[in-house]
Amino acid sequence: MDLQRLAAHVAQSETRQIKDLFLDPGRAQDFSVHADGLLFDYSKTNIDANIRAFLLETARDANVAGRRDAMFEGERINETEGRAALHTALRAAYGTVVKLDGENIVPAVRATRDRMAEFVRAVRCGDFQGQGGRITDVVNIGIGGSDLGPLMAVRALTPYGDGPCCHFVSNVDGAHLADTLAPLNPETTLVIVASKTFTTSETMTNARSARNWMATVVKRPTDQFVALSSDEEATTEFGIPAERAFGFEDWVGGRYSVWGPIGLSLALSIGAENFADFLAGARSMDDHFRKAPLDRNLPVMLALVGIWHHQGMGYATRAVIPYEQRLERLPAYLQQLEMESNGKSVSMQGDALETTSGPVVWGEPGTNGQHAFFQLIHQGTAVVPCEFMVAKRGHEVGYAHHHRLLVANCLAQAEALMNGRTFASARAGLNRSDVPEEARDRLARHRVFEGNRPSTMLVYEQLTPFVLGQILALYEHRVFVEGVVLGINSFDQWGVELGKELASDLEPILNGEAEAEGKDASTRMLLDYLRS
Ligand code: F6P
Repeated sequence: MDLQRLAAHVAQSETRQIKDLFLDPGRAQDFSVHADGLLFDYSKTNIDANIRAFLLETARDANVAGRRDAMFEGERINETEGRAALHTALRAAYGTVVKLDGENIVPAVRATRDRMAEFVRAVRCGDFQGQGGRITDVVNIGIGGSDLGPLMAVRALTPYGDGPCCHFVSNVDGAHLADTLAPLNPETTLVIVASKTFTTSETMTNARSARNWMATVVKRPTDQFVALSSDEEATTEFGIPAERAFGFEDWVGGRYSVWGPIGLSLALSIGAENFADFLAGARSMDDHFRKAPLDRNLPVMLALVGIWHHQGMGYATRAVIPYEQRLERLPAYLQQLEMESNGKSVSMQGDALETTSGPVVWGEPGTNGQHAFFQLIHQGTAVVPCEFMVAKRGHEVGYAHHHRLLVANCLAQAEALMNGRTFASARAGLNRSDVPEEARDRLARHRVFEGNRPSTMLVYEQLTPFVLGQILALYEHRVFVEGVVLGINSFDQWGVELGKELASDLEPILNGEAEAEGKDASTRMLLDYLRS
């Protein structure tokens, strides 16, 4: 990336207001992109035609199109782990050919998908039963990518959830497992152990405790266990036979895995057909990403807006604000997707990055966020670009008036952020009030909104399985494009390893089986205090 030219564009843009860009009557249309029913509007940013041309040139120079094709074609683009990144193959149409080392992997994907669909059918119709009869509850035990995707999606698609009730346990804090299992009947509960590696300590600890819980009542507890993992040997050793293990390959990263076996709880909840629609939505975004010209390409433009805001303008964070209560876990899902993928300090070649890597991603659904942190977003000193999303219509026909209010709030936030409120307007408002004249200037200053704060808007028809698939694939590709432009590997996660190693050193110390020598003074003091 040409940082000098980027800085020059930033300097130039800082002298103007976003709202003034709308002197161009065609701006709203020109600075928005459509993709199969989605509308992405980035006109309320400080990006003008010159900046966009520069950003697109940056994407071309970084060979985004070439890297994208390499990803879809199974090249080992995850160079630090020597792996391909073929999560897109999990949702490929059956006739597609995706070759890895010369072999078409789609038939194997299909075989697993068909086995999953058959298992889902059997559980939902009662052919597969627990010791006490039909399965009423499913507990997915997993963490990170083996939890956030299915958990978020099950909640997002509640209107389609006519299968067993799905629960999710991720934290090794025993409270999570205890609270989840407390109301459940082991005899009618199915436990899914979701772990790509089948070694993650939190998941395996929770899985063993859940097996003990089941064993108090159920004669053959692992008969009501399913494994989602790429390590068949480990799942068999745990006691889960091959017919109830659904595997996936090392070319599926944890945070990209909801499309395959890790999505089993979602499929159990919404059924195999709706799950297929979810995959179809993602596939539609894949097609768009592969075919649309860069300037009309939704993931590419979303990525370039992100680069402009973080690497260009230096905004440290970005907020994702879905005006959709059922997307309440989407920000957490995107935190892993974006921050685990692009939170790196070195390039693919191992050189220190010349610029910052990914921003902090956070958020909450609207309108709740408005009554919590929006104060800072509107009037605080830090600028937080907001990525809003909202549906044209909700599922609740009887609550259509709620939805109109929801949409009005969403649009109002974006408008307020851009236009703000001047001192003159705040003062004029006070002129019409009972506030004494001498206090009006002072109080008016508290009511000024600087404005000129950027936001984007993603609008979709309704939150269906198809649309959810589109949105998730959109963000996956956005993260990928940002990674390519920055020259980093978005598919490894070495940054989570050190803490895992140290935790396994500390556990024996806490058990009194090892000494704390070699630990720093702060850690030693804390250990003493915790053990006392
Ligand atoms: O700790 C990070 C991580 O490796 C994530 O990338 C992954 O999604 C999560 O742990 C869970 O891993 P597994 O599915 O192997 O248990």
